[in-house]
Amino acid sequence: MNKAKKAIKAIFEIIKRPYLLNTIIEDEHFKKAQFEKEFPHITHFKEIPFEYFLQKEELTIQPFAFLGGSSLATDLGLLQLLCTQNSVENYLEIGTWRGESIANVAPYISKGYTLNLSDEELLELGLESDYIKMHRFFSKSIQNVTHLFGHSQKYDFESLRTKFDLIFIDGDHHTEAVFNDTLRLFDFRQSDESILVWHDAKSDPETPRYEVLLGIYRGIPSHLHENIYLVGNSLCAIYLTHKPKWEKAKTNKAPKQYFEVKIKQKNVEY
Ligand SMILES: C[S@@+](CC[C@H](N)C(=O)[O-])C[C@H]1O[C@@H](n2cnc3c(N)ncnc32)[C@H](O)[C@@H]1O
Repeated sequence: MNKAKKAIKAIFEIIKRPYLLNTIIEDEHFKKAQFEKEFPHITHFKEIPFEYFLQKEELTIQPFAFLGGSSLATDLGLLQLLCTQNSVENYLEIGTWRGESIANVAPYISKGYTLNLSDEELLELGLESDYIKMHRFFSKSIQNVTHLFGHSQKYDFESLRTKFDLIFIDGDHHTEAVFNDTLRLFDFRQSDESILVWHDAKSDPETPRYEVLLGIYRGIPSHLHENIYLVGNSLCAIYLTHKPKWEKAKTNKAPKQYFEVKIKQKNVEY
C-alpha cells in the first residue's frame, strides 16, 4: 500500500475509532520528539555504570519470581545497594504488585512503605481477579513493611508523618502519572541528599523510554536536572545529588564486565 492510501485508511480508522489517536500520542517516537522540543539542551543522557554501585559486593536477589511484570535482578540489586550504602531508614515505593521490590529491600531498611491501588480499585478498572490476587504475594507478612492503599496522585502522604531517604516510583508509567508522582513525592524527601529511583525509565537496559523520562524531567525543577541519571545494566533512572562517575548513555556499547548469575530454587514461604 502506498503512503497516500495508508494515510487515507488511517484517517478513516481514526474517525471510526478515535481512541486510536492515543496510540499515536503515546508512541515513543512522538514522546522523543516532545522531549527534544521541551528539553533541547539535553542532548544525551548521563548514565552511571552499575559497577559504580556494585563495586566488589555480591548480591542475593530474593525473592525473584522470574515472572511477568517484574523488575530486573539488577533493578532490585540497585535498590538493595542504595539502602545499604546510604543507611536508608525510611523507604517509600509506589507500585507494590507482587511485593518483590519491597521484599528485596526490607532486610536493609528500618521501615518500608509500599502504596498500590486497592484491590477494589483494580477490580473497578476491569483487571482480572487472578492478577489482583497476586498483589502483596511476597510482602504481606514482612514485619517492617506497611502496605498503603490508594491512588498515588490522591494519597495523603502527609498522614504518614514521615519523610523518606529513598523513594522508588514504579506505579503508573504514563508521562502525566510519572510527572505527578515525581512532583508530589519530591517534597517527601527526608533531606536534599535523599534519593529517588524511577523504574522503567528505559524499555531495555540500553534504550531510554521517553514516555517515563518526559514525566521525570517535567517533575524535577529544571535547576536540578543535572542530578538525574540513568543506571547502566538496569531499567532505572536515579536522582542523586552527590557527583557520581557517569558516562554518556549509548546503545551497542561493548560490555566492560559481565555478571555471574547463580539460580537457586526456593520453596515459597510467604
Ligand atoms: C510495575 S508494578 C510494581 C512492581 C514492583 N515495584 C516490583 O518491582 O516488584 C506497578 C504497580 O503499580 C500499581 N499502580 C498503577 N498505578 C497506580 C497508581 N496511580 N497508584 C498506586 N498504584 C498504582 C499497579 O496496580 C501495579 O501493581
